[in-house]
Amino acid sequence: MDLASFQAQLDALRDRAGAAIASATTTGELSEVDSGILGRKGALRALMGGIGALPAEDRPRVGALANPIREQVESALAARREALEAAALEARLLAERMDVTLPGRPAWRGSLHPIRETEREIARIFGQFGFVVVDSPEVETDELNFQALNIPEDHPARDLWDTIYLQEPEGVPGDGPKYLFRTHTSPGQIRAMRASQPPIRILTPGRCFRYEAVDASHAFEFFQVEGLMVDEGTSMAHLRGLLDAFAHELFGAGRATRFRPGYYPFTEPSVAFDIGCVVCDGSGCPACDRSGWMTILGAGMVHPVVLRNGGIDPERHQGFAFGMGTDRITMLRYAIRDIRAFLANDLRFLERF
Ligand code: DAH
Repeated sequence: MDLASFQAQLDALRDRAGAAIASATTTGELSEVDSGILGRKGALRALMGGIGALPAEDRPRVGALANPIREQVESALAARREALEAAALEARLLAERMDVTLPGRPAWRGSLHPIRETEREIARIFGQFGFVVVDSPEVETDELNFQALNIPEDHPARDLWDTIYLQEPEGVPGDGPKYLFRTHTSPGQIRAMRASQPPIRILTPGRCFRYEAVDASHAFEFFQVEGLMVDEGTSMAHLRGLLDAFAHELFGAGRATRFRPGYYPFTEPSVAFDIGCVVCDGSGCPACDRSGWMTILGAGMVHPVVLRNGGIDPERHQGFAFGMGTDRITMLRYAIRDIRAFLANDLRFLERF
């Protein structure tokens, strides 16, 4: 072999390389072409491996002949790679094109359950008078749900509450506390009195349970909001003023209100608080049994026994309490006819709020 034929082989290699580079249609194919020519086992190496066949004086010139060819191949590879990458990007942009003028899909937003919404509204109204919301457990002891509220074991008033008792937990001796699902939020009163000192102004909203025959106005699971105020000189007049303000804010400024005598073991005196019927405005209709009035809560002055059970000296502090059914208040606010709708989880109902 002489230099001229070496040069001819180099030229042929360059031409083959040029054709292969031009026909590579992906960067992957191009990489294969690259290593086939310039790689460790590539054609150029192979060619250079043959220089032993050249006369000794020609060998030093081999580099000067081969290097330009290598550079040409390298730049052709680089140019092709750039072109293929640009084309790939273009294709991707085209494929992933989005129409920014399309209307958006609205994100689905939940809303507060109407009971929660009413709880918050009640808390907002009483909050203006300094009442704060505190939590009280749904599983209670017999002591707090009844006894501390002046309802002893055999008191006939227990018949008002169709109590769901819980089995004693394993390992608890039989004389331990008796547990039940609270039948009302009133035990929250005792907890609040035991946990703090007067002045006390609290609300305890939450779920209550009774073993009820379920119908449109009775659920075995329902909601109440309890209110308690204990301070020096707290009177029935304060209670009346507060409840009037509450009723006027929730049911309209012109709403008639009245106290009726009532009975609860934990208040003395006890009252029922009525508002003018929200359906007929007082003229009498089936919704109010033709009386023109609707009872929205029970209330009264906290019984001295109950104050004492809460650790409060009735000679010094007095209190009033009230308890309302959140379900019933919500039904009146939104003209809902069936209490069972609240827990049925029917989205057609829930989405109205
Ligand atoms: N706990 C009573 C019930 O469930 C409601 C009630 C009445 C609460 C009078 C009170 C109250 O705080 O003073 O029927």
